[in-house]
Amino acid sequence: MELAGKHLVLGLTGGIACYKIAELTRLLVKAGATVQIVMTEAATQFITPVTMQALSGRPVYVSQWDARMPNNMAHIDLSREADAIVVAPASTDFIAKLAHGMCDDLLSTLCVARDCPLLVVPAMNRQMWQNPATQRNVAQVRDDGIEVLGPDSGSQACGEVGDGRMLEPSATFEAICAFFQPKILRGQRVLITAGPTFEPLDPVRGITNRSSGKMGFALARAAAQAGADVHLVAGPVSLATPWGVYREDVQTAQQMYDAVMEATADADIFIAVAAVADWRVDHASAHKIKKAPGQPLPSFDFVENPDILASVAKLPNPPFCVGFAAESADLDVHGEEKRKRKNVPLLIGNLGPLTFGRDDNEVVLFEASGATPLPRADKQLLARTLIGEIAKRAPRAGTLFS
Ligand code: C5P
Repeated sequence: MELAGKHLVLGLTGGIACYKIAELTRLLVKAGATVQIVMTEAATQFITPVTMQALSGRPVYVSQWDARMPNNMAHIDLSREADAIVVAPASTDFIAKLAHGMCDDLLSTLCVARDCPLLVVPAMNRQMWQNPATQRNVAQVRDDGIEVLGPDSGSQACGEVGDGRMLEPSATFEAICAFFQPKILRGQRVLITAGPTFEPLDPVRGITNRSSGKMGFALARAAAQAGADVHLVAGPVSLATPWGVYREDVQTAQQMYDAVMEATADADIFIAVAAVADWRVDHASAHKIKKAPGQPLPSFDFVENPDILASVAKLPNPPFCVGFAAESADLDVHGEEKRKRKNVPLLIGNLGPLTFGRDDNEVVLFEASGATPLPRADKQLLARTLIGEIAKRAPRAGTLFS
């Protein structure tokens, strides 16, 4: 589980966005985190401590005079157990208090007394957000090393539209997960292809394959969490764009090739995960091919699609290239053979039919020094391991000519 072993203090301050924290708590608990809820008095006007207790599975603290703490040191004890404090929603008033080190309730005292990182997720009306005092306070807390997540822009509970909306629970969850990841790819630009391609036969039919895109999307997410700038070129899949990733959708192998060739000069690392169709129909019909009695069956001439990975690897100054290979048998032989043929330093092999569409995967790393099998793992956690392996091998951006 993504946040297994992590202990979070989740602080709620007064704002209508408190309703989002019920869902955020559920996501954090499901990911394995221990979530200790602390609320300001104002927050309890928006969502009840009973709801938050039920969702977090732990008693909720509101007052610094809470008699349940035997030593009456809630402000110390709660923060010492925490790997991070997350204040969400963080109101205008609470951010102002943080900027000045004020501590007149349990949550603010806890923040001032902490010895762990603090993340705040602002939520307020757009005028309150734009107010120069708020902007000064936000700049001050950032300067003090406090991580500010968001805010988002869009429609607000008050009916106005603008900056200040709290990040959605899923985006807040993603930002918290990313916060805990070491930034091993900071400053690196990573280009990734993912999913299948779709080669049309006519305007409604086409040839595709069973790649779900899950592995490529998981790698894009893990690379972004590791601090990389990620450009994801995706074939037709129905997956949400990972948080912080720039996504470009394409359909055909040729479109994927064009998109990659355009972006590759800006990439330090290229990871080709897409299951690209080897062939396309030479002249796809402009009209739907009709079935009619007595008509001969349709037949098609195929032409070969460009090999995107091999083309990038052949460039004069290629990024660090990583290939993927799905094989149905004899992975050991085909993996290393394919790595050499495509001329890439690292190829990640898996037994394709066993992994397509699944949430877990088992892979072998092929490189000049030999083959290394990795244990079967959930694709998200495996992606993190693979990003670690790629980061170890890829030259750091800017070091080639220094
Ligand atoms: O399909 P094949 O087994 O050759 O794929 C191996 C690797 O080459 C994968 O990383 C895949 O994304 C890449 N590839 C490509 N363009 C193709 C075919 C494969 O980039 N036309």
